[in-house]
Amino acid sequence: MAAQPVLLQTRALCKRYFAGDTVVDALADASLQIERGEYVAVMGPSGSGKSTLMNVLGFLDRPTTGDYLFDGENTATMNPDQLAALRNRSIGFVFQSFNLLPRQTAAGNVALPLLYSSVPRRERQARALAALQRVGLADRAHHLPSQLSGGQNQRVAIARALVNAPELLLADEPTGALDSVTGAEIMDLFAELNDSGITVIIVTHDETIARRTKRVIRFLDGRIVADSAPPAELRA
Ligand SMILES: Nc1ncnc2c1ncn2[C@@H]1O[C@H](COP(=O)(O)OP(=O)(O)OP(=O)(O)O)[C@@H](O)[C@H]1O
Ligand SMILES: [Mg+2]
Repeated sequence: MAAQPVLLQTRALCKRYFAGDTVVDALADASLQIERGEYVAVMGPSGSGKSTLMNVLGFLDRPTTGDYLFDGENTATMNPDQLAALRNRSIGFVFQSFNLLPRQTAAGNVALPLLYSSVPRRERQARALAALQRVGLADRAHHLPSQLSGGQNQRVAIARALVNAPELLLADEPTGALDSVTGAEIMDLFAELNDSGITVIIVTHDETIARRTKRVIRFLDGRIVADSAPPAELRA
């Protein structure tokens, strides 16, 4: 059966946090739909709910109320094991701070997500090397994170996100710790990955970065205040 065009959909998503006497609506009534193959930037001031959204979209957190459908299935009906399996299979995460294990080589870091599945060791190594090749780092496979530049470490993190061939890449300020030239190179890589068919959602504070995507969703106080429509070629 052909894949449905809609990859994910949220309906009136709310995430409420209680900290002491303070109630924070990190997400308030956020409804959005993202189709397969889209390349989306999520923008908004600090505290507007961008990371909260990414955590919900990546099943790291559940909404307080509202629905989240992934590939047509309501995630509220899935138990934690099912969510973890779906996350491992379908979603790659990239963070501002790379989140690499310092004592593992580039290849070791990239192979980590495969430890949770029953992939044999040799195949883990082969797939890690293939992922490193895809991000242009095959010749650094045996380097430790401390022996790599910031941009190279972010490439390792992207390779790790790719190693399970996910449909969706979620990147939370992936260029935030990089200089502008290195950040632009990382954005070239995301554009390439999107061209190859992966749906990409990137949180950024940088309008230049956002301009390189195909759609911008803007948040303010947990609400979506602007959403440039998905491009016509994706709606055809
Ligand atoms: N675990 C938590 N407990 C209480 N409040 C939280 C928690 N996580 C986030 N918040 C609050 O929710 C709001 C949204 O936070 P979030 O991290 O999503 O913002 P953001 O848009 O990613 O900001 P930034 O650009 O600074 O990363 C903030 O007001 C934050 O203080
Ligand atoms: Mg954030």
